Amino acid sequence: MRNVTTLIEQMTLEEKAGLCSGDNFWRTKGVERLGIPAINLSDGPHGLRAQGEEQDHLGVNESKPATCFPTAAGLASSWSVDLLEQLGAALGDEAQAEGLHVVLGPGANIKRSPLCGRNFEYFSEDPLLSSHLAAAHIRGTQSRGVGSSLKHFAANNQEHRRMSVDARIDERTLREIYLASFEHAVKEAQPWTVMCAYNRVNGEYCSEHRRLLTDILRDEWGFEGFVVSDWAAVNERVPGLVAGMELEMPASGGERDAQIVAAVREGQLDEAVLDQAVARLLTVFFRAVDARLEDAGFDAEAHHQLARRIARESMVLLQNDGTLPLANEQRVAVIGEFAERPRYQGGGSSHVNATRVEPLLEALETRGASFDYTKGFEIDRDAPDQQLEQDAATAASHADVAVLCLGLPDRHESEGYDRTHLDLPANQLALIEAVTAAQPNTVVVLANGAPIVMPWAGRVSAILEGYLGGQAVGAAVADLLYGEVSPGGKLAETFPQRLEDNPVHLNFPGEGDVVRYGEGIFVGYRYHDTHDVAPLFPFGHGLSYSHFDYANLTLSADTFNGDDQLTVSLDITNSGEREASEIVQLYLSDQTQTVPVAAQALRGFDRVTLAPGATERVEMTLSRRDFCWYDAERADWRLPTGSFEIRVGASSRDIRLTQCLEVRGDKTPLPAIDRNTLLGDLKAHDGAVRILREHLADIAEELPMLNDLMGRGGGDDLMDAMGHYLPLRAMISFSGFTEARLEALLKDLRATASAD
Ligand code: BGC
Repeated sequence: MRNVTTLIEQMTLEEKAGLCSGDNFWRTKGVERLGIPAINLSDGPHGLRAQGEEQDHLGVNESKPATCFPTAAGLASSWSVDLLEQLGAALGDEAQAEGLHVVLGPGANIKRSPLCGRNFEYFSEDPLLSSHLAAAHIRGTQSRGVGSSLKHFAANNQEHRRMSVDARIDERTLREIYLASFEHAVKEAQPWTVMCAYNRVNGEYCSEHRRLLTDILRDEWGFEGFVVSDWAAVNERVPGLVAGMELEMPASGGERDAQIVAAVREGQLDEAVLDQAVARLLTVFFRAVDARLEDAGFDAEAHHQLARRIARESMVLLQNDGTLPLANEQRVAVIGEFAERPRYQGGGSSHVNATRVEPLLEALETRGASFDYTKGFEIDRDAPDQQLEQDAATAASHADVAVLCLGLPDRHESEGYDRTHLDLPANQLALIEAVTAAQPNTVVVLANGAPIVMPWAGRVSAILEGYLGGQAVGAAVADLLYGEVSPGGKLAETFPQRLEDNPVHLNFPGEGDVVRYGEGIFVGYRYHDTHDVAPLFPFGHGLSYSHFDYANLTLSADTFNGDDQLTVSLDITNSGEREASEIVQLYLSDQTQTVPVAAQALRGFDRVTLAPGATERVEMTLSRRDFCWYDAERADWRLPTGSFEIRVGASSRDIRLTQCLEVRGDKTPLPAIDRNTLLGDLKAHDGAVRILREHLADIAEELPMLNDLMGRGGGDDLMDAMGHYLPLRAMISFSGFTEARLEALLKDLRATASAD
């Protein structure tokens, strides 16, 4: 490793400023005379988009062939850190083969609304699941000597006005939901780079948000790499550098390098800030070139098979009346153009030039299945076509079962814009009507990056959510339809019955450039469960061809005070007749009533694969933070006191085992003491109560609203409430209390507070 400090001393001001932006779309600048290398960055996150000489931003020009894995929406439904790590490692291998140093991904933004056009690229509505899967993705890639760029930091939860919108989020929600989705991945996997988002958060562009990029990311979470701007996310370069955004991408034609130089020369920017940024860049640049494997290659067929395995572990069987799995001898009518032209990835910067694509028709031919194909609808049009529907109905009526391949065409969801509704195109809806009228055994296979509504669900026998299944999508679907493997994926997001049931409905996509996160922490299932709004398919839901029994829940302790970890153990038995995997979910229900909380929150998960009849003991651990809420006033995580229910189940709405746990939380801190402090807020503190009683003894005689405080029983609800919500200064209005006495009281209370 070179001595970075010595190199910086040898660099000119211009060279240092130049290092802080790209040379072209995908490459940084080097300094040849000093042996400082340039590095190559490329999208990500579920396949590479390495471009040659013909470069562009959003995938207009073809990139080199690479394996297209399922996108994050599907990956997340595997709930498998192992698979995510394997995928990350495969990306790392391909990056080595293409001479890339950093892969731009994964994306850990929360799915706030199902309408967000880029949800296919994000993992979940739940921060724990999202950040654990992101961490695994990063671990895998970086294990191959290739860096990850965790993106888009932070609160980039919509595409509408994505480069200017201001996400207004209260601090508790930001911490518990939107930042938490990145936090574990940063702390645990230490990505080489973090990409700041386009949007603003509470008034500041992310690219110049010092609190996000330095105070939280670096100082609190210990991030050691460099921050790169999303492509063209830079607003003002010099404030961005000061805030902690080291690398601007792509290039700015030297414009903003010159601004940095001028700012140093004019004394507006301390050169030490630039040096620190350059040091961070050089550290990663050298790590990246040192880890380069010359002559690296990858086994395209092995990666295709990995893509197939990941896809089939990720797909979610939403509904099944027993029609699935299909039997080999059944005659199947395969209907829908997606069977021959699959939609297997999303549009925009993550677009991969797949090494090969295996549509369902090809996979069915390979396995010698007995089927006929009819197009049913055209992907490129939305309008119904009676002839196509009629042909499909006829084919369906001659078969034992119909398999309808439906989903969202590319133009319906993409990076760059959001959807406005959750419906399938009209031609597909008409097709469902026609086919189900002709064939009672109809299976729907979906290709979509985010939830759709399904008013037709009651008309079909089975629904397999394939998400955007990557290049081996057809083989994976065939494996599941015919029961080569049992489906094991579960939803990492809620499917609402109606768009209006989604908690952000009134606050999406905002007014002009402002979007208020008015739903607070109640995103996805947190809202549905708390407000008891039945979803179409709940978070964590997914069926199997087998059955699992849950038993013998034990906790390693009956009480918890945050010092040690708590282990939750249970037995899972595969009580069905085929090998299958189960995703066990652990939710905590905070019943302490300290602050408004969601009815339950995911705090652990595990995926186990079991032979028929086999039992495995599953263990999940909980630590202090899992029980905490974020106290914005004190800028810290607080452990409440009271009862929690530990819930273990097969989905958020299929809880199988519960147990209570008493938590002895943090001492409630005294509130800030001033004339507006409420009496009631001091009652939990013995010292404060003692002082209040001393100071108020005489006036309390006349004021029944102080009875409760004085320990005289209270009992009059109105009076007790008046006393509880009484600011200290109001005593002057209700009694002979004086300003001078109030000052003396405040002085004594502050003394107790500081001694506390
Ligand atoms: C996207 C990023 C992507 C970058 C480079 C941006 O438009 O938001 O996710 O990595 O382009 O293609």
